[in-house]
Amino acid sequence: MHTFEYDTVLCETEGHVATVRINRPDKLNALNLQVLDDLGRAFQQLESDGKTRCAILTGAGDRAFAAGADIREMAKMTTNEARSFSRRGHSLGSDLERLAFPVIAAVNGFALGGGCELALACDFIYASDTAKFGQPEVNLGVIPGFGGTQRLARRVGIALARELAYTGRMIDAHEALRIGLANAVFPKDALAARALETAETIATKGPLAVEAAKRVLLEGEDQPLLAANDLEIWAFSRCFATEDQREGMGAFLEKRKPQFTGK
Ligand code: COA
Repeated sequence: MHTFEYDTVLCETEGHVATVRINRPDKLNALNLQVLDDLGRAFQQLESDGKTRCAILTGAGDRAFAAGADIREMAKMTTNEARSFSRRGHSLGSDLERLAFPVIAAVNGFALGGGCELALACDFIYASDTAKFGQPEVNLGVIPGFGGTQRLARRVGIALARELAYTGRMIDAHEALRIGLANAVFPKDALAARALETAETIATKGPLAVEAAKRVLLEGEDQPLLAANDLEIWAFSRCFATEDQREGMGAFLEKRKPQFTGK
């Protein structure tokens, strides 16, 4: 196992799987500027190392994934500072969506406000049965600022997103599962292992193919069907220029397990 860390973020890599942990447990992993920077740096490092095929994003401690943007830091912001803070959160979100590998959010407690938005910028969410989700910004006189109004609506439908954003209501893991916010719910002590299991499965697949699927799913979501299908046709055909395609299909025909190299 290889580990590296920043002030507020811990990273562990084992083979092709990385676990990135927000590390401010005494503040319920609230997202201040430092955390946003450290997360950006950690994922950039993993991507440039080129080894990671799937990452897990989670929170340190057993209470929170992230209980929102840091209210102490936001309380003093001017409108200009708030705009640049919001932009920072947005760039982190779109960087996560555009990484070469998938990121699974393992939500191990509160995922509120910016925490919920960060989880939504990951490829999908696994939750512990103790997880709580919500967009409580209206309680503070503000609105979601890290993509919540848009990604939540796209994930769960606009009417539910409206209800959650207008009321600030917190929902539990089972409701999150029912509305399609979380893909699965596991007992608290099983979450990390189950996220790792899925990440390891993804890491055995052709990494260029997984990257292409991630990209087409992302870019296609907001395009008309014809344009999105066109993107799929293009990306599918590009897979045939890879060694991984020859290896994958060759291994099937030779009745053996493929060894993908990401070339
Ligand atoms: N920003 C800054 N600090 C936060 C925080 C946030 N979003 N969420 C929690 N914390 C801090 C608390 O201030 C407290 O710090 P302290 O010990 O120095 O006082 C510590 O984390 C523990 O939180 P606490 O409120 O004491 O825990 P709790 O179990 O009583 O309540 C929550 C948990 C999540 C319900 C409560 O912390 C909360 O409502 N947090 C804010 C959620 C929110 O509005 N997020 C959206 C922000 S846009």
